[in-house]
Amino acid sequence: MTALLASGRDADVYALDERRVLRRYRLGGDVTAEAAVMRYVADHGYPVPRVYEATGADLILERLEGPTMLQALADGSLDLRDGGTVLADLLERLHKVRVRAAKDPGTRILHLDLHPENVVMTEGGPVVIDWRNSTEGPPELDVAMSALIVAQVAIEPGHAFAERAEVFLDVLLSCTRDNPLSQLEAAVRRRAADPALTAAEQAHLHEAALLVTTISRAHH
Ligand SMILES: Nc1ncnc2c1ncn2[C@@H]1O[C@H](COP(=O)(O)OP(=O)(O)OP(=O)(O)O)[C@@H](O)[C@H]1O
Ligand SMILES: [Mg+2]
Repeated sequence: MTALLASGRDADVYALDERRVLRRYRLGGDVTAEAAVMRYVADHGYPVPRVYEATGADLILERLEGPTMLQALADGSLDLRDGGTVLADLLERLHKVRVRAAKDPGTRILHLDLHPENVVMTEGGPVVIDWRNSTEGPPELDVAMSALIVAQVAIEPGHAFAERAEVFLDVLLSCTRDNPLSQLEAAVRRRAADPALTAAEQAHLHEAALLVTTISRAHH
């Protein structure tokens, strides 16, 4: 028997045994590209769960132990400043990985959904999950996506994490070398095209972008 560990927006994650999980897209799909990028960055020393198998909509992955960064921030076991620094560091480390084919030197591997729910805080350090949006492009776009996602929480009226998200965003943008502003419009377009966003989130995307602009200008 396999136990359901977590049900994300698009995928269910089951424990297969002590060492492995099955991550399955509910609506089907093809995990080939996702598995390839995970294996590639792992080979370059980047912290991702090991990929054991990839077929159809199923990935069999190394089972990680630990809270997500969001859980750790929420229960106070991780300080906001430390969390922001860790996320900035994960972005920077990813963008140092050499791309496969020789391309424009500004082209890097991007995650494009690198936020506190997609980082697991294991004993061995933070590990990045959920590579479905990964592609290649300018690193500033990755920073802009992460910042925009956090800013959306910061501006949501009554959100329990709103104030903490703004502090987190400030730390994140104070630590990132890449200035996200050149790619912020592109990030907004990508978020706007995400069918998972609620109408309210869609309506407030530009307000979130404005917050990123204001904080980014203070640091870059
Ligand atoms: N390798 C793993 N080991 C242990 N737990 C995992 C692993 N991968 C994912 N999980 C658990 O499953 C949850 C969802 O994983 P993931 O983010 O990959 O799926 P998702 O459906 O794309 O999620 P969402 O769309 O909500 O971000 C994680 O928050 C984590 O709790
Ligand atoms: Mg996720």
